[in-house]
Amino acid sequence: MQTAHNLDVLRTILGKLRDGGASVALVPTMGALHEGHLTLVRRAREACDHVVASIFVNPTQFGPNEDLDAYPRQLEADADMLEGEGCALLWAPDVEAMYPEGFASSISVSGVSDGLCGADRPGHFDGVATVVCKLFNQVQPDMAFFGEKDFQQLAVIRTMARDLDLTHPRAHQIIGVPTVREPDGLAMSSRNRYLSKEHRDAAATLPRAMKEAIAAIEAGSDVKTTLSNLESALIEAGFSSIDYAVFADAKSLAPLTEMSNAPARLLVAARIGGTRLIDNMGVG
Ligand code: PAF
Repeated sequence: MQTAHNLDVLRTILGKLRDGGASVALVPTMGALHEGHLTLVRRAREACDHVVASIFVNPTQFGPNEDLDAYPRQLEADADMLEGEGCALLWAPDVEAMYPEGFASSISVSGVSDGLCGADRPGHFDGVATVVCKLFNQVQPDMAFFGEKDFQQLAVIRTMARDLDLTHPRAHQIIGVPTVREPDGLAMSSRNRYLSKEHRDAAATLPRAMKEAIAAIEAGSDVKTTLSNLESALIEAGFSSIDYAVFADAKSLAPLTEMSNAPARLLVAARIGGTRLIDNMGVG
């Protein structure tokens, strides 16, 4: 696996990788890789000739009181894992390469960015959209792979790519990959490592309670009551607060009050032991 830390090197290596019309997949990450990321790399390898993974802890998507400084950084260990999965190129720019002196632009995707995590983390999705747009322009992948665990992020990126014609001219597609879970159902996340043993055990209540809520909604229970029961179950298990528990249209992410024929999703963000966990599952 080759590594690039600046744009010139990235472009030189990409030019060679594309020789003879070979296709390139992009897997954007912030590092601290786990099985969820490696699943994205495997899916990308099946779909394209070469996989480029990016590792960049993007400061513009962290709020002033969030965990930017504490966010786990382990570039060497991550590089070994990517190499083991057959990744061709690691794109690991430093902050100055990504946001040079005088950087003044930002992409804002209104509507789909506004509720859920967008309401709790102002500016977060502008930071995500801006850095992902830059990654698309830098790598120009044929396909890009993202985890469905960050379901709202995926919706924001799809909307941005459609609105800004980022799917042209190489016709790259954005692929959402189902969430990878621990044996007890907890969605894999780089932030799970912040949890104490006690909180880690209690965190498994989140996917369990979500499945129960989904079964209730599918059986015709009142949505508002079901969501309130879900929140109570989490608090009882040791969660300190619930940022949101929303039953929503899977495309627009607009809240729904009852089941319809359109695809729907249950999305939750809740805090335990100072760590904010998110999860989502399909309904219907
Ligand atoms: O999901 C992530 O790890 C990040 O939000 C992403 C897409 C790499 C942008 O920084």
